Amino acid sequence: MRGWEFVCTTAELLPGEKRSVWAGDTAILVFNLDGDLHALEDRCSHEDFELSSGTFDAAEGSIECILHGARFDVRDGRALCAPAYAPVAKFPVRVVDGAVYTRDDRG
Ligand code: FES
Repeated sequence: MRGWEFVCTTAELLPGEKRSVWAGDTAILVFNLDGDLHALEDRCSHEDFELSSGTFDAAEGSIECILHGARFDVRDGRALCAPAYAPVAKFPVRVVDGAVYTRDDRG
């Protein structure tokens, strides 16, 4: 698919799991939250650290940055606690024939 980056197969991204991929210059982190797929930029809005190193809490639907403990809602990227206040960019996800795709749809 034009402009869409292959992430993995659906079998490789089960509920409670996350996968990261580069789409051009953008690192994207894709989550499976109870069967729904969500994608955020793999970059903490506090000090630009990679969120993929952190813990995905599938019960809360959040990802915690391991550097200073900020948490973000994986459904929309909003910051849930200090020291981050700005949201993380959210990206679209598509599933086609058992394959997961995402892309950076900003300008
Ligand atoms: S860089 Fe993520 S909380 Fe500080």
